[in-house]
Amino acid sequence: MKTTQLANGFAVEIEGVDLAQPLDETAFDQIKSLWMENRVAVFRNQTLDDDALVAFAERFGPLFVHAQSSLLSSRRKEVMELSNLENAERAVTHELDWHTDQSYTPQPVFGTILHGLVAPKEGGETHFSDLAGAYATLPEELHARIKGATAIYSAEPRPKAREKPLNAEERARIHDCVHPIVRTHPYLMRKAIYLSPLHIRTIGDLPEPDSLSLMAELIEHAVQPAHIYQHKWSVGDVVMWDNTSIMHRRTPFPSHERRHLKRTGFYLPNDLATPI
Ligand SMILES: [Fe+2]
Repeated sequence: MKTTQLANGFAVEIEGVDLAQPLDETAFDQIKSLWMENRVAVFRNQTLDDDALVAFAERFGPLFVHAQSSLLSSRRKEVMELSNLENAERAVTHELDWHTDQSYTPQPVFGTILHGLVAPKEGGETHFSDLAGAYATLPEELHARIKGATAIYSAEPRPKAREKPLNAEERARIHDCVHPIVRTHPYLMRKAIYLSPLHIRTIGDLPEPDSLSLMAELIEHAVQPAHIYQHKWSVGDVVMWDNTSIMHRRTPFPSHERRHLKRTGFYLPNDLATPI
């Protein structure tokens, strides 16, 4: 396996591995360590069908199924199709702002994996912000304002927060939840800001306008170039990230561009799953 660092202290490209083949224990452990230490792992030129994608994901932990049932693939519930092709059941056509996957659930997904099948020539990139690096370099004044604080994370904290609004059944089922705004990596004990701008309703006991202005300062710090990796998609890419330590966004793309990614993910074991 050959590795190349893609960004400032995080994001690693791993070459010399075929993820469609069963990995021996040593190779798998090496990939898991590289991924956790680097928060984002990139593999090129992979060909994974749904079963192979799921088989790779489930070695990391229990498989994730998205809480918003209207998004699930009808073929395999652990796989979501992020597609604007003609046959897409639910077309994904727009940008999506910074967030951390499923931070609005009591036990958020640990790792998310995307596999590129059709890549746009222009736009539709996935950008990653290193929230562990951002925490480590947080100015003292900002650090003091979030120290020991919790935040309320909501699937739909504000009108139009979601690309596809929750339906009545989902709204009744998916409740707001509380997590610490500084989260500790369950294996590495490394701290990161648990920043999910799409989902955070309020921080600490601040009213919503003050929470939003504090969040704006945290975002401004976290999206400095030193904490960013921008992934431009090619067919065959597999990109996985650690939602305890990374936030991400999708950039806009022109309507004539075709884009199709498959997504799956995995949880932490139950005893580690609640953020601390
Ligand atoms: Fe996401």
